[in-house]
Amino acid sequence: MINMQKLKKNRYIFIKGFFLLILLKYLYFNSLYAEEDTNYILNGPLAGSFYFTKTKPGNKESVVQSHSPLLEINENTLSVFTPHEMKGYDHYIIKHIVLDNRFNIISEKVFDPSKETPISKHNIMGYEDKLYVLSICNNHNTWVDIIKIKKP
Ligand SMILES: [Fe+2]
Repeated sequence: MINMQKLKKNRYIFIKGFFLLILLKYLYFNSLYAEEDTNYILNGPLAGSFYFTKTKPGNKESVVQSHSPLLEINENTLSVFTPHEMKGYDHYIIKHIVLDNRFNIISEKVFDPSKETPISKHNIMGYEDKLYVLSICNNHNTWVDIIKIKKP
């Protein structure tokens, strides 16, 4: 004879477990994909050819230090600095671009090499997860780095 109370309890445990499994799978794969995105951007096949990164500088290994942007977040401000010379329009950093975790441009700064240094500040209030930052040199192309936004 079937114990109806036990059957209901088992069904409840099964449904609860099923939804917990879906939730865990969702959370696990989302974090996994987020890491994959970061790794793909910094080390994938486009890095070292379409653009350059610290770990994939392609044929521009000798200029990594002066082209890879240095990033720092202080509360709601992202500071970007490229330790690059500004030799007038002969050789300079053209601009910094900041994109959110869905690759929407949220901020950019164009530099005048006759009077500016390649330092920019960007308001990142309301953004989460990570930011993609591009620093573009007129001779050595586009350099990309990523910074994670820590939750308060
Ligand atoms: Fe350069």
